[in-house]
Amino acid sequence: MFKKLGIAVLSAFVIFACQTEKKEEISDQIEEYRPVYHFTPPENWINDPNGLVYLDGEYHLFYQYNPFGNDWGHMSWGHAVSKDLLTWEHLPVAIEEYKNADSTQTMIFSGSAVVDSANTSGFFEAGKKDGMVAIFTSHVHDGKEGLAQHQSIGYSTDKGRTWKLYDKNPVLDLKMKDFRDPNVFWYAPENKWLMSVVKPQEYITQFYESKDLKTWKLMSEFGKRGDMTKIWECPSLFPIPVEGSNEKKWILCISSGHREKNYLAMQYFVGDFDGKNFKAQDQNEVLYIDEGKDFYAGIPFNNLPSQHKNPIMIGWINDWEYAGKIPTLPFKGAMSVPRELTLKNTNDGYRLIQKPVSLNSLAGKTFEKSDVKVNGIEAIDMSGESYELTTDITLGTAQKVGINLLKSEGEESRLIYDVGSGVLAFDRTESGNVTFSDRFPSIEKVTVKPENGKLKLHVLVDRSIVTIFVNGGEKVMTDMVFPTKHEGKIELVSQGGEATFDALRIVEIK
Ligand code: FRU
Repeated sequence: MFKKLGIAVLSAFVIFACQTEKKEEISDQIEEYRPVYHFTPPENWINDPNGLVYLDGEYHLFYQYNPFGNDWGHMSWGHAVSKDLLTWEHLPVAIEEYKNADSTQTMIFSGSAVVDSANTSGFFEAGKKDGMVAIFTSHVHDGKEGLAQHQSIGYSTDKGRTWKLYDKNPVLDLKMKDFRDPNVFWYAPENKWLMSVVKPQEYITQFYESKDLKTWKLMSEFGKRGDMTKIWECPSLFPIPVEGSNEKKWILCISSGHREKNYLAMQYFVGDFDGKNFKAQDQNEVLYIDEGKDFYAGIPFNNLPSQHKNPIMIGWINDWEYAGKIPTLPFKGAMSVPRELTLKNTNDGYRLIQKPVSLNSLAGKTFEKSDVKVNGIEAIDMSGESYELTTDITLGTAQKVGINLLKSEGEESRLIYDVGSGVLAFDRTESGNVTFSDRFPSIEKVTVKPENGKLKLHVLVDRSIVTIFVNGGEKVMTDMVFPTKHEGKIELVSQGGEATFDALRIVEIK
């Protein structure tokens, strides 16, 4: 008996020791890669942002979430709210996967949320202006395989905290296996709701209209053009102002393939919308929203208060090519810093301009220097892993200019501009841990022209996420990196001649 007790005590001790070890291991990894100012869930898997909507002082972020683990599965809507778009309060799961009467289950796939202030749906009490309706893809599966996808709705009378599903779901069913990601908004000129939704395998976006969010009528379709190297997902159609004018255009964003084949990214079409049809401008190239590997499934906020003149988008930071393999625990996946979107009318046609929302309220210590002349490599007297860096580089006689980020002995994330070819590259091949997937190590490239001999950089670094906005947001690249040594050194680089880094400002973000 004593022997047995001894074994029991010993094994309890071993289990306890292992658990402590595991906990320590996990907390180390949190410290290592959890971004400071990008949204991550406390634990578990996330993908697409869903139901981005503003209501009574709160920005809501719903998102694809697995409440039970670190891999994709049991997809439900996680939920967080923010008063400033930067700091988020985590709330309980909003809409959960459910069991059906037969042996199948329904996952809550991506979708959107609206504030039904006029109670068009009839779900709410008279006079209440804060009823929320979520429109999502009900993905029916048998535990192994997807069987059907249709669009369903749910409603909330307590500002998104708890939800009831409509008892006559689904509200839109084409009896298809792949038909998803409804994005709904209010179209004031005709007092109606509009939905964009995709047939992924056919590269088709359909546009539907509804008066009550329950009955949907097909108006038109758009597709079979642009990037078709990957299926189409997560569409969104919305009006967008043109900088320096009173003009408004419409933009259709689609998650699909990347410029570099076999990765994922988002593309956009610019055009006009008459309440029924979207007509895109002619474009002789595919327009990508973000040229990095890790920005996908972005959608805009609904119901933004009037102080926001421009649409604001959040995207998922990851790439399906290696999403499940990234070395982060106990969370997997992050959201981008919200971006403000406008259009610029250029010689090549309308082009998207993106700017991160201001991070000033989170600013910590600041390093500022002007006219930094560099010929070779110049180490900066500030290091860190979470900061915002801005500078205008006068190219001078340099052949290449750039910045080494998150640098430690033997590893760095390299941003380098080749003056001759006009190619700005972000090289993460030696950024730290790159071996967890052979699809991960990569060099992203965008072609950008200097403005008056200057290259303008605005870089967000946040432990495992780097986002580079070039020339005021004309081009953007988002990439994850996993440095292992954490010295966080920063170096300015000029090769083949002298360049001047003007207005260099590095602000620690807390
Ligand atoms: C995009 C996506 C959506 C789908 C969701 C499932 O990343 O594949 O099309 O609704 O993720 O989690």
